[in-house]
Amino acid sequence: MQTLLDADSIRQAAKTTSHHHFPDIQVFKELPSTNDYLLKQAMHFAKQTVACFAESQSAGKGRLGRAWVSPFGANLYLSLLWHFHLPLNELSGLNIIAGVSIIKSIQKMIGIDNLQLKWPNDVYHRDKKLAGILIEVASHSGNMSSVVIGIGINVNMPDEAAAQIQKPWTDLAGITGKSISRNDLAAALLDQLTINLEIFQKKGAAPFLPIWQSFDYLAGKHISIANGDTIIEGIAKGINKDGQLLLTHENKLIYINAGEASVTKLQSLSSSNINGSAKDLS
Ligand code: BTN
Repeated sequence: MQTLLDADSIRQAAKTTSHHHFPDIQVFKELPSTNDYLLKQAMHFAKQTVACFAESQSAGKGRLGRAWVSPFGANLYLSLLWHFHLPLNELSGLNIIAGVSIIKSIQKMIGIDNLQLKWPNDVYHRDKKLAGILIEVASHSGNMSSVVIGIGINVNMPDEAAAQIQKPWTDLAGITGKSISRNDLAAALLDQLTINLEIFQKKGAAPFLPIWQSFDYLAGKHISIANGDTIIEGIAKGINKDGQLLLTHENKLIYINAGEASVTKLQSLSSSNINGSAKDLS
């Protein structure tokens, strides 16, 4: 029988519930989008951290205006509302924290090899996407910023839903051949996010760079970055503490804020620089 997500089970399985910042947990059967729900509700939770899970999303959002396929009772759809004592411009490395937290929680719970982080916001396994991150700003003023960190992890994607996914994808059930407890995975994820976001508040993203490097999917590869109509090519050289991708392009090292990365061997189509213009923080 299918086990549904349950706030008490998640809390009981979590190890960081005594932390001041461990979130209140809310579980819904269906929402349009857990990110949109928390963005709308953020004003009511001005001091609380809140984790919102839904069993399904009718309008799940991916990056760059894409849909996130969100069938019922199959995967994890989490949004976490987190308040920082930091100005917005110091949050640009948050994608690092979210990506590292996803990898660490999956490794702790299931212990799979070959997980990788693809800049800016994807978790990959053997060239296929396993999880994605969508970070959006709820509010900011001076040294206070509130953000919603949205995370989708494919756990056991049904075939009918999978037919709607355009790009190579994978799920934990397919990788492991085992059934995965979504409540335990949710707890492990909240543990990692709580610990790592507390560190980020004090020290920024720099302490997480070595971990990112050890999982970096793009490093050393010839890639192209698309951002709107602009495409730039070069060799990926890792990321910095602000979450920017480093790229060698025409013998110069350049810093890319946003875009969609693809591994390619094609010749350069454009050499203009790309500045981040995405509305989200990814
Ligand atoms: C991406 O890879 O494009 C980002 C996917 C983010 C999906 C998650 S699922 C929970 C949260 N709610 C949403 O509507 N989107 C994020």
